[in-house]
Amino acid sequence: MPEITLTQAPAHVRHGSSIGQPLTRRDGVLKVTGTARYAADNHPDGMLYAVLAVSSISRGRVAGLDVGAAKAHPGVVEVMTPANKPPLAQDPDEKGNPFTFRLDLLQSDRVRYANQPVAVVIAETLEAATEGAALLSPCYEAEPVRAGLDSDDSFVPPAVGVGNPAEERHGDVDAGLAAATVRVEAVYETPAQYHNAMEPHAVVASWDGDTLSIDTPSQGMAMAQARIAGLFGIAPENIHIRSPFLGGGFGSKGLISGPQVLGIMAARLVGRPVKLVLRREQMFGPVGHRAPTRQTLRLGAGSDGALTAIDHHAKTASSTFDDFFEPAANVAHTLYASPAIATSHEAVRLDTGTPQFMRAPGEAPGSIALESAIDEMAQACGMDPLAFRLKNYAEVEPVSGKPFSSKALRDCYTQGAERFGWASRPLAPRQMRDEAGLLVGWGMGTATFPALMFQAQARAVLRSDGTGVMETGAHDMGQGAWTALAQIAADGLGLDLDRIEFRSGTSDLPDAGIAGGSAHTATAGMAIHSAGADVIARLADLATADERSPLFGAGNAGVIARGGRLFRRDDESRSESYADILARAGLPEIEGRGSGATDPAAQSTYAMHAHGAVFAEVKVDPDLGQVRVSRLVGAFAAGTIINPRLVRSQYYGGMIWGVSFALHEHAVMDGRSGRPMNPNLGEYHVPVNADVPSLEAILVEERDPHVNALGIKGVGEIGVTGTAGAIANAVWHATGIRVRRFPIALESLIATAA
Ligand code: MOS
Repeated sequence: MPEITLTQAPAHVRHGSSIGQPLTRRDGVLKVTGTARYAADNHPDGMLYAVLAVSSISRGRVAGLDVGAAKAHPGVVEVMTPANKPPLAQDPDEKGNPFTFRLDLLQSDRVRYANQPVAVVIAETLEAATEGAALLSPCYEAEPVRAGLDSDDSFVPPAVGVGNPAEERHGDVDAGLAAATVRVEAVYETPAQYHNAMEPHAVVASWDGDTLSIDTPSQGMAMAQARIAGLFGIAPENIHIRSPFLGGGFGSKGLISGPQVLGIMAARLVGRPVKLVLRREQMFGPVGHRAPTRQTLRLGAGSDGALTAIDHHAKTASSTFDDFFEPAANVAHTLYASPAIATSHEAVRLDTGTPQFMRAPGEAPGSIALESAIDEMAQACGMDPLAFRLKNYAEVEPVSGKPFSSKALRDCYTQGAERFGWASRPLAPRQMRDEAGLLVGWGMGTATFPALMFQAQARAVLRSDGTGVMETGAHDMGQGAWTALAQIAADGLGLDLDRIEFRSGTSDLPDAGIAGGSAHTATAGMAIHSAGADVIARLADLATADERSPLFGAGNAGVIARGGRLFRRDDESRSESYADILARAGLPEIEGRGSGATDPAAQSTYAMHAHGAVFAEVKVDPDLGQVRVSRLVGAFAAGTIINPRLVRSQYYGGMIWGVSFALHEHAVMDGRSGRPMNPNLGEYHVPVNADVPSLEAILVEERDPHVNALGIKGVGEIGVTGTAGAIANAVWHATGIRVRRFPIALESLIATAA
């Protein structure tokens, strides 16, 4: 399988390091001209179309399917049901490890959530498959549904997020609350949000004996290979995944979903290539969602405004058949200094698909509640919200007691406030109106997200023609990996960007790990960086050991790689080109390898997080309660910035998701049927251009010597945190009304007329 390569470089690359250059996306032209090939754009010879039939009940069993009617439809080739599905080597309900999620692969007639696949119709055309699926007319035996967070059979989850304890305690919260002169206790609710990347999950699968080729969007190809290998009983290396471009991932494509596997099963069943693409409404069930939360915050503070206690409790939900618990309360471990901090979670089980990772899992809903409560406390203390946050600034990570590897949050507050004009904010609410008479309010929130790393590998090659190659099977969900990682590659190889080939996006390349947890640039970037260092060291060995080289005797540590030449560090007038070194050695090329991973020693010593401050201006119609965000200024510090243009775009995307969280996104669940009632982008609202305010993202300078050698933290998720809280706080400042239920609905504000 040919790997996917991008070699074009924009004209404005300057000599010297490509790191830090604001390059445009190298895949941008491909995308805007429609030539970037997404999974569903593939069309191998002989391909059939598969369409899912999904359940319209949330709990019970499928009592009947009219398979005969579907099969009789012209063009329908096969109908895959529990009766004839190809055998699997592994029970899809087997739980190998906490992050092998149970999948619905037609293993029985049970229905455990709405929109669960119950059959797959395979046909010569998409239309025939769609019509065939409609003809199945399933009948059900429905059972009573568990919906909503109110049920009282809640329990303490075994773990939250990725293996974190559900309850943590630092100091004595009850004593801290008792000692407080000011107390705030409030309950905040966030709704279920369903994954709705622009590109729905899709797969084009072709089998050749026991070898499988798939085009499918993935945020983790090696994990997908392992899961598919287990299910089909084949070797992971016999599974070839192409995933060069994703139309968004946001966590939903981190693990291979059931529908993607069903497409592969369908191809196995019919012995021909098969394409399966989810319809938009089918995204509301089998591909993960963010669980709803109900969070109780109890804060205490002294008369000086210093926090004496933070108690953050989150009630959330998982499915009836698997475990994923949104770690919403854990953001309180990091944000504010307090002698006493307790976090706890409880959960109920609902007849929904299993919730999963969704952009800033934990921090996104958690920071809404905490940042709202902090604002309420600042108000109760009669303090400016920024002054209150500075008063409670965490100099070390409060719960762990560890020093931060770096923390430029104070600079974020200062630069963001300055740019926004925060200093002229009146303390009391309802003080500002615009020229049209709308109520104007200003609010702020603190943003934070851990600086994580997973594991990645890369391979580097320098060729005798003076060009280089870097290979790593990275994932570009739209965040810009094709560009940012290539910049790190060019830097690591000491070549200009137009002299390297960056090969990525397929599973046959070295494993670049997971594009998730805002960790991809750091992890894959470090693999690339170390592969570059490895090949340069080998090249330097060739030169410095050869008395015909001007570098003879310089020693490895004594050379610098730049612009396709090695220079003596102590005398830059002495240099030699890569091409000359390789030619004299008679080598057509030379290869190096590298890996990127967390440094456990640094991890155990330091708390590693990106930080930011978001300032929001809203305008509220006093008669109608309509809220518009008119301005957002975010200032973020996330270590080394590889490409400021792309990073700014990540921050904008996160902040827009924050607008969505505050004002728009809401899966409306029917309490009787358990079904999402708005499974389409007409009624499941996300911000459109007209909802997006003036955005500014300030890239605050920060050098982190501990996170990794390049100093990279993550930028993908932090923008989602803090923003929605800032907007809610601005709504309070505009109206004097504290809305604690998200998204903020105009009926909560309709009584604002003065
Ligand atoms: Mo993410 S929720 O780490 O794509």
